[in-house]
Amino acid sequence: MAAYEQTLDWTTYWEEAGETDRDDADASGEYIVSPLLELFEQRGVPSSYADVGCGPGSAVFAVADRYPETTVVGYDAAEPVLDTNRMRVTQEDYDNVAFEQAVLPSFAPERQFEVVSSFYTLCYVPEIEQALQALYDAVEPGGYLVLTYHNQYAQSMFTNIAKQPHEYLDKDSAWNPDHFAERFAGVIEGNSILSYRKIHDILGVWPQSLWSVVETERYRAWRQNPLVFVPKP
Ligand SMILES: C[S@@+](CC[C@H](N)C(=O)[O-])C[C@H]1O[C@@H](n2cnc3c(N)ncnc32)[C@H](O)[C@@H]1O
Repeated sequence: MAAYEQTLDWTTYWEEAGETDRDDADASGEYIVSPLLELFEQRGVPSSYADVGCGPGSAVFAVADRYPETTVVGYDAAEPVLDTNRMRVTQEDYDNVAFEQAVLPSFAPERQFEVVSSFYTLCYVPEIEQALQALYDAVEPGGYLVLTYHNQYAQSMFTNIAKQPHEYLDKDSAWNPDHFAERFAGVIEGNSILSYRKIHDILGVWPQSLWSVVETERYRAWRQNPLVFVPKP
């Protein structure tokens, strides 16, 4: 079993995904696209952008739509979701988008990108420090990395949910109560969480909150799932 399949088998998930499953694993579409595009407007439109753990590619397609001159690549571990995304590229005739497989903690693309991002994915990677370094290594000097991650508040909240998942998670939840503890074992056990200090200790640069520079309203879980960017000198 591949490392990324230990907490949730994403290949099977995307193979079997119906519309609700796709929406449930599309947090970027709901929470990230607006602040990300606002950040680009403020800091300058990047000439190249990569999103790792892209899922159905909301961030990828939004950037490609808004900035046709930007080269955009979406990476994910699961081939079925990449295949669906590639079909969309063909059907909608994009000429600035590609989708490739990458399985964190390894990420060694053939080129660097001005902006690299990873949203709602590092929580599934036990070797989070290695993954963070690999993502940052793929950023061009002068560019930046954009991330959401789970922190100690998420760890404490998820630990409580895992004790009584049926109390907290109803049928409308994006998470199956029977598999919650297994799915988020990395967060609950503290292997797949980060903090500002930890990011600084690994990369040697302090992250900055996106909410300190954009006006888009924060999403509800901003305290336990910070949205940050890390400039690369
Ligand atoms: C919760 S979804 C988030 C999708 C998208 N980033 C978003 O925010 O809407 C997590 C995604 O990460 C992918 N993934 C899980 N483990 C991964 C790994 N080790 N390397 C790369 N992608 C991974 C899954 O296939 C899935 O598409």
